[in-house]
Amino acid sequence: MTTSSYHVPILVDEVIDLLMPERGGIFVDGTLGGGGHSEAILEHLPKGAHLYGIDRDCEALETATARLAHFGDSFTAIHGNFFEMKTLLSGVGVQKADGILLDLGVSSHQLDSAQRGFSYKLDAPLDMRMDQSVTFSAYDVVNGYDEQRLADIFFRYGEEKFSRRIAQQLVQKREQKPIETTTQLAELIKQAIPAKFRNEPQHPARRCFQAIRIEVNGELSGLEAAIQAAHDLLNLGGRLCVLTFHSLEDRIVKTAFKSFEQPCTCPKSAPVCICGKKPTVHILTKKPIIADEQEQEQNSRSASAKLRAIEKL
Ligand SMILES: C[S@@+](CC[C@H](N)C(=O)[O-])C[C@H]1O[C@@H](n2cnc3c(N)ncnc32)[C@H](O)[C@@H]1O
Repeated sequence: MTTSSYHVPILVDEVIDLLMPERGGIFVDGTLGGGGHSEAILEHLPKGAHLYGIDRDCEALETATARLAHFGDSFTAIHGNFFEMKTLLSGVGVQKADGILLDLGVSSHQLDSAQRGFSYKLDAPLDMRMDQSVTFSAYDVVNGYDEQRLADIFFRYGEEKFSRRIAQQLVQKREQKPIETTTQLAELIKQAIPAKFRNEPQHPARRCFQAIRIEVNGELSGLEAAIQAAHDLLNLGGRLCVLTFHSLEDRIVKTAFKSFEQPCTCPKSAPVCICGKKPTVHILTKKPIIADEQEQEQNSRSASAKLRAIEKL
């Protein structure tokens, strides 16, 4: 496997323009993955600056560490969840940062590795754990959650309009025997939706697979707090860039950024501000940056990407 087949980084030039690593200081890549964005950051860092790369997937850490070895002491890899960024960084003596990147979701490598069980296209045991050191997996969600809870996650995290029918079918089927594999689950989901909706261009199970993945990895539950933590870590003039891949993530990031830029809680009718809350950031991307046509053609995964950034005041 080449490093670029592990994961093709998205909107790299735009991320570098926004993060401005050439300023030097301490940078953090909270979602190291295959190390593509980290490599670009390191290429722009002046001497004496440092990049910390965090990932909860040990395979990602291994790949990125090998890829970035030639940067020597400028780079440190850390295993962990970026939701605990403050603790992880303070463990290596870092209290403040000048640039932080979060490129959310899964890497192409995770999706394309059959045995990781993320893809409805590849037959594998139900897994979907980003961090292989935890035990809770897609198997536990699919075979353990009650019907209501399953329907709720399909609806909330997958925006699946047939969430109830699908949950009902899965619960009925698993009473006969547990649902063990990705292809078995994908087929059951397909059969649960009305026949006229089964032939959409992409597989009809993709929304439920996304929902299960989000649930297994708790991807949304701590995101708002993690954005707050990243904000708190930034030095004045420091920048945070976040790449999202679906509307649920993007809404959380957009709302958090807005609350930093417009924190005033006074009623609109108040002639002057009395709450005293002052903006702590400037939003650098009034509209999210998206991949151009050429990038979308070369890398279809870039089509859903949205990049937002803030600068600490
Ligand atoms: C989209 S990929 C990042 C790709 C990377 N920017 C590159 O250029 O190769 C997302 C990575 O973040 C990791 N990840 C996702 N959520 C995480 C979290 N909460 N904490 C730590 N790592 C996370 C995943 O394991 C995955 O390797």
